[in-house]
Amino acid sequence: MDVVTDIAQPLAMGVISHLLGIPTEEQERFRQSAGVVINGMDPNSLVDDQQRRHAAQARITLVQLLRLHLRQADGNGSAVASTVLARLAEPVSPDTDPIPVTEAIATAAQLLAAGYETTVGLISNGLYALLTHPSQLNRLAAAGPEDQAMHRAVEEILRYEPPVQMTVRIALAPTTVGGRPVPEGTVTVLAFGAANRDPDVYDRPHDLDVTRDTPHLSFGLGSHFCLGAPLARLEARLALAALLRCRPSLVDESVTYVQSAFTRSLQHLRVRLTDPSSQ
Ligand code: HEM
Repeated sequence: MDVVTDIAQPLAMGVISHLLGIPTEEQERFRQSAGVVINGMDPNSLVDDQQRRHAAQARITLVQLLRLHLRQADGNGSAVASTVLARLAEPVSPDTDPIPVTEAIATAAQLLAAGYETTVGLISNGLYALLTHPSQLNRLAAAGPEDQAMHRAVEEILRYEPPVQMTVRIALAPTTVGGRPVPEGTVTVLAFGAANRDPDVYDRPHDLDVTRDTPHLSFGLGSHFCLGAPLARLEARLALAALLRCRPSLVDESVTYVQSAFTRSLQHLRVRLTDPSSQ
């Protein structure tokens, strides 16, 4: 099977769609748009005009699809009435106004875009990292999704191969980073992948070691820390534990990554699995 298209994509899209109340038959359209939106988030210097247009069109499609669903959420008992998308459109208390529809839609679009490709990346990068480091994989062969070993392994995979590679900040005041002046207003690109392998912080930073217990920056830090981190961790632990029970082996040694500087995620990961009941 292809772990990306057969497991990681349907799982990540299914979970976020369930939360937002997107029916199964619509998920493929959302999935295509969400993927393009995320991949269009690369810094401008890395994206050509056609990719920019493509991403803009995908954002419009996503918003149109969500607007349609939000309208359905107005009706009592509709399929989306009890979902995050419906609740975003409700007033928080009887004497407050609901948030504007445009804001509810923007929030839902962000949840979709932020929660999809990233989780696909975590599951597929994780399995690939383990398959290419058999001694690490062996340590997890019998681990269940709630075992401490699996919790640690998912954190180490996040450190080693962050699905989100970078974020952007604007300096609100002049400051100094690593001895270099950063004047007020400077746009800075912060590379999680590099920070997670800082030799001043990590022993053997380029080695995958699933027994490590060191923090990482793959979900960001501070007030914008990833809202979906517990969900992404849970999905990854469940998916990896289930896959490892089937003794996976690589079918293709060579893999290709989604063309994006912003995310790190495999395009395909073909593996052979064994039915656990026959082992
Ligand atoms: C492995 C999966 C994921 C990774 C690596 C990841 C990574 C990140 C990072 C690095 C940030 C901080 C960005 C910044 O500070 O500029 C962030 C923010 C965010 N993430 Fe995630 N994310 C993942 C999964 C999810 C999921 C599943 C959801 C939704 C269900 C989600 C929703 C969000 C939201 C809404 C924010 C913005 C939070 C804010 O600005 O206050 N993410 N994520």
